[in-house]
This record gives sequence, structure tokens and C-alpha cells, in this order.
Amino acid sequence: RAEAHIEALIAQMTIEEKAGQLSIFSDMTRLTPQAAINPEAGPPVDKNLAQRVREGRLIGVFNGLGAAGARAIQRIAVEESRMKIPLIFGADVLHGLYTVFPIPLGEAASFDPQLAERTARAAAIESTAAGLHWTFAPMVDIGRDQRWGRVAEGSGEDPYLGSQLAVARVRGFQGKSLTDEDSMLACPKHFVAYGAASGGMDYNSVEMSEQTLHEVYLAPFKAAFDAGALSTMSSFNDINGVPMSANRKLMTELLREQWKFRGMVVSDYTADQELIKHGVARDDREAAKIAILAGVDISMQSDLYNLHLPGLVKSGELPMAVVDESVRRVLRTKYLLGLFDNPYRSLDPEVEKRNIMTPQLRAVARESARASIVLLKNESNLLPLARSGQKIALIGPFGADIKNLAGPWAPFGKSDHVVSVEQGMRAVLGDKASLTVTPGSLIEKPLEGGIEAAVAAARAADVVVLAIGEGQDMSGEAQSRTQIVVPEPQQQLAEAVAKVGKPMVVLLRNGRALALEGAVRDAQAILVTWFLGTETGSAIADVLFGDYSPSGRLPVSFPQDSGQQPYFYNRRTTGRPQGDGPPAFKARYREVSNEALYAFGHGLTYSRFNYERPRLSTERLPWSGTLTVTAKITNTGEREAEEVVQLYIRDCVASMTRPIRELKGFRKVRLPPGASTDVQFTLTRQDLAFYNLEMQFVAEPGEFDVWVAPSATTGVSRRFVLNAS
Ligand code: IFM
Repeated sequence: RAEAHIEALIAQMTIEEKAGQLSIFSDMTRLTPQAAINPEAGPPVDKNLAQRVREGRLIGVFNGLGAAGARAIQRIAVEESRMKIPLIFGADVLHGLYTVFPIPLGEAASFDPQLAERTARAAAIESTAAGLHWTFAPMVDIGRDQRWGRVAEGSGEDPYLGSQLAVARVRGFQGKSLTDEDSMLACPKHFVAYGAASGGMDYNSVEMSEQTLHEVYLAPFKAAFDAGALSTMSSFNDINGVPMSANRKLMTELLREQWKFRGMVVSDYTADQELIKHGVARDDREAAKIAILAGVDISMQSDLYNLHLPGLVKSGELPMAVVDESVRRVLRTKYLLGLFDNPYRSLDPEVEKRNIMTPQLRAVARESARASIVLLKNESNLLPLARSGQKIALIGPFGADIKNLAGPWAPFGKSDHVVSVEQGMRAVLGDKASLTVTPGSLIEKPLEGGIEAAVAAARAADVVVLAIGEGQDMSGEAQSRTQIVVPEPQQQLAEAVAKVGKPMVVLLRNGRALALEGAVRDAQAILVTWFLGTETGSAIADVLFGDYSPSGRLPVSFPQDSGQQPYFYNRRTTGRPQGDGPPAFKARYREVSNEALYAFGHGLTYSRFNYERPRLSTERLPWSGTLTVTAKITNTGEREAEEVVQLYIRDCVASMTRPIRELKGFRKVRLPPGASTDVQFTLTRQDLAFYNLEMQFVAEPGEFDVWVAPSATTGVSRRFVLNAS
């Protein structure tokens, strides 16, 4: 029925109406902070919106909120337009809408795909209540260079972890069935390799081998599409000289023909028009033609498809069949969302009232926020802090701050409901301990008298909690940094406060891995708190005072120095690795060793865990067999805690250089003190495969090392052989 209806519609549609179904605009009539995000670009849909809808000149709108407003526009589409095709309403719901969850990078630190699925589900429930059908998420770009500002929006440096979380988030957004009123269409983005921008500079060119592209950058996309994601976004960057919105090889030959992806590709914001600045199109008309022929179904914001597809088809330069195929994908997706059966799905103001900012959403926000926190160090068990009997000085620009909790790309978060660090701490401490709060510094500028006041507060206290790091506009889109450090005025604050000599806990706020220096690096305890969203303060207090034992692990390596970028644990080995014989003439920098300051996968708890050397079910894995790797893990500390047990492999000799280690599995286990458990992983040859010189995805027989370890640089390995038969 659906296919027949779609064909009937296509047969009746004018080329102008078809171009309309392939054009999307941000909705300025229902004003959101989003309006300011791309100020220089594109004609906004403003007063013309109703008229455009009546004429069928758009697929839908994005980043406008509210069920009542969307319902009114939808009514025009289905009652007053000629084809009566319902609109789709999209938005950038990256980590929550009104209720803000941790930035995706933070949530990745939970190493908990089930949790990620639940936060995506919660975000979908709130967003669909607010009149949305489509989220431009999850962001599945791998981020191996921490200078790139958008590392914050993804799952970090590892393709295995990234793929697991991509799948979880797609499932969470899309729910059981796309037709359900609380399900949202997912859009894994940005297709592809946007995170590999040269020098970590946003929008920059990408040069990359086919092998790395497939093994690292495409892997989470493939996983997300296999999990049922039915849209994607073409990225801003070019790869090896071909801008993604002109990249037929990847968007059509790989995505559609090889992977059989049946969903829609939307360009990033004016990315089709940017083909002109890339220097591969002469003008708007040529840019539109190149983009649609390459496989961009929907043009975002530039209006190029509306303006030029009709003329291109009429002149014979663009086959109508190409346009029809894109329209078919759009209409099919609208069908799958149930919009043809019920155009008012998810557009009910009563449901909206009931389902936004609910206690249930806040509970998920708090749970995911505390699971995202990573304890980097805890000398002399400074943490958790006592709840009474000591004076605490909360120092730093983020102590009382409520403006930098959401992090990048959460433009709709309701700031009147957030919990600051100070509020979270006061909720626990009540009157039992004295808490002094002073900013000490602004985020990127000194504060007059700030350091003096902070030093006085530290002197009067028994312990200092130093809340420092990046403001939320220091990461995210177009926020690349050359120095990934704590801003200088805050570093000076840290140095001055540290000199007082009180025990000091650093609460790091950050949208990327940072290179920690001086007093910050040397603090007795460091908690990485990312941007945790609405429940920031409650979650931090849960950890500070021991109601929750930290369970997060780093999804990105913390380097020793800003100059060590790109940096990632799963790098290929060189012919002259450091640590192998005399130090001269090795692959190294003069100033620092090649080790991370804190490795991928690292994170402490309030307990201790012992790992026994892994046991193998066999030392010879048959070509079509399985190998079980088992490790006994014991909680040797004094309190119950969760441990993220990680499985890594290394291909010892292969036809191409292979990473020094690769994550192939992880499990989060909770153990009471003194308890042990056997954690088991299964490997098959598929887990050992890679893209060889001929771009075949194959495993090569031979020796492999395997680790079950608490991070990417620790543990004791075992060796096994993959048999040729
Ligand atoms: O979805 C975003 C994308 O990540 C960056 N450019 C704008 C898009 C729509 O808001």
C-alpha cells in the first residue's frame, strides 16, 4: 500500500513539489537559540513559512520546538497544500532537549551502551512530546585529535566503543517501531571522517587511507545502519580531495549499492552550496547538480534544490529518475514514521505538558551524569570527602556557575532547572559543614581580586575543591584549539591555591581530553566531569561525598602535552618504537615520552580490583572456531564498586602494520568487597580481521596477543594462534 501510494504521489508531483520534498530549513518562526548558530548562512524560513508549506516547497523544518506550533504548520501541509504530504520536524537532539544529559563524550566514559540507549530513549520521549520526529544524532565521528572541538559530541577515539554506543543510541532514539509516537528517526552523522580534519581544525580537509577510513571512521556508521538508522548527514569536509557532499563513491556506491542503505541523506547546513568554496562547483546550479548526483537527497538550508533542480531537470542535465529516487526515500521514511497515517503524531500539546522535564527524565540525567565521571587519581584516598566536620572551599569559575553545564550542541536545555556544583554540594552538606564558594577567576580572563579571595578561602579551609576547565563555548562546532590546556588565568589560580598547601580535588570541566599541567596535574585527586547537563551538581556531589563510587573510564587518551596530537592508543607500530633499546633515533618527541598521561580506558573507583592473567580455552583458534578468554577479577578494596573490564588484542605479524592494541570487548561488573567473578569474552576470526592491501576484510593466520585489562596500557598478555584451517 505504501509503495503504491508513494508511486502515485510521485506520478502526480510537479518538479517544483519534488524539489520541495528535498529541501529543509531551520524554523525561525518558533525561535530557538539555534538561530544564532550559523549566523552567516542561508535564507531562514521566516514569514514565508506558511506560504512555502502551502506550495509544498519543503520536506519539513528543523530546530523549531513546540507541539502546538508544529501542529499548526502541519495542518497547513495536510489541508492546504496540493499534495497533502505531511511535514517532518527535526532538531539537533544530541544529548537531550530540555532535560540535558551529559555530552556524548562524557556518556561514552560510562562504557555502558545500555545506559546510552536509555538516555537516547528518554531524549526521544521528551523530544517527540515537544513536536519532533527526527534527531540529527547520534554523532558517531571518531575523534583522535583533541584539538577538534566536536570531539565532545561523539564517543571518543575508539571505533569499537564508538560502534557499540552508536548502535545503542540508534535503538534508543528509534525505539521499538518508528511509527510509535515516542520514536524518533536517528541520523548518525557526519558522513564521513569529519573528525579527521587535518590539524584538528574544524571543517578542514581530510587525507586518509582507504583502510583507516573503513576500519576506524566508517565502522560506527555501518554499525548504526545495521541497527536500523534510516538517515545520515553528509559532512562538511572533503576526503582525499572530494568534498563529502560531492562524494558519489562513498554516498552512493558504498552506502547505497554496497551497504544497501535505504534511508535519506541530508546535507549538513549549506554543505551543498559550499562545494563552490571547495572549488569543485562553479555556481549554485552546478553545486546542486553535483550534490544530488552524488547522493545528497536533501539540501539543508541553502535552498539550492528548490532553486535549481527544476531547471536542471527541464534542461535535461539531471534525469528526473534521480530526483524521483530521492523523493521516494523521503516519502518512504515519512511512511515509516507513520506520518501518512497520522500527520499529527507527536504533535499533541497535552502529551507535551506531561512529558517534558519530568522526574523520570531527571533521574536518568542524574544516573548518566554520575556514570560519566572519571576519577583520574586519588592520592591518599582523599576522596570521598567527609560529609561533616571539615571546612571546604569550593574555588573556581564553575563552582556556582549555571551557564556552562550543558556543553556544546544542547541549545534547548532549560537553564532554570539545572543544579550547579555548589547547589549539589549544599544539598548533601546542609549545615553540617561550612562551604565557602569563590570563583577566583573568570573562564578565560583573570578576575580582579579573584586569586586573593581564593587563596584566603583555601587558607581558611581543610580541603579545596577546585572547579576549573573549559567554558561550554570552548568546545563544539568551530571551536578547535591549538593548546588543549586549562585556560591560563585558571591555571594561575590553581598554582596560587595549591601553594596554600591544603589537600586539593580538581573537578575538571571539559569537552575534550586536556593536557594537564603544573598544579592541576599534581593535585591529589582529579575528577573528569565533562559537561554533565541538568543534574551536574547532584551527580558531582554523589561522587564527591561517596554516595556513588566513580565508574567512568576515559574514552579519549589524556596526553602529556598539547603537542602530542593527534593521539590515540590504537596507533600503528613504527619500525623504531620508543622503549625498545637506547633512546636515540626512536619515534618520539624530545620533550615527553609517548605514553599518555592517562590512557584510554583508565579510571579509578573507590575500591581496588585485581586482575588475574587471562585463561584461554585454547591456544590455537581454529579458522571457523571460537576462543574464550576468561579473567578472574577480584574486588580487593573495602567497598562495592563497578569495574570496566576491557579486552584488547594485537596482531603480532601481519601483511600490514597493525595497531599496538585494539579494543574488542568490555564488560562493566559490579562487585561487593572481597568478591570475585570470572569475566568471559569470546573471539572469532571476525574479531581479528582487518582491511588488507587489496581492501579485503580478512583475518590472517598467525600469532595474536590478548589482554584483559583495566586500561589500554595495562595488563598481562597471553598469546594464541589463529590457525589457517
Ligand atoms: O546537525 C547540525 C550539524 O551537526 C552541524 N551543522 C548544523 C546542523 C543542523 O543544525
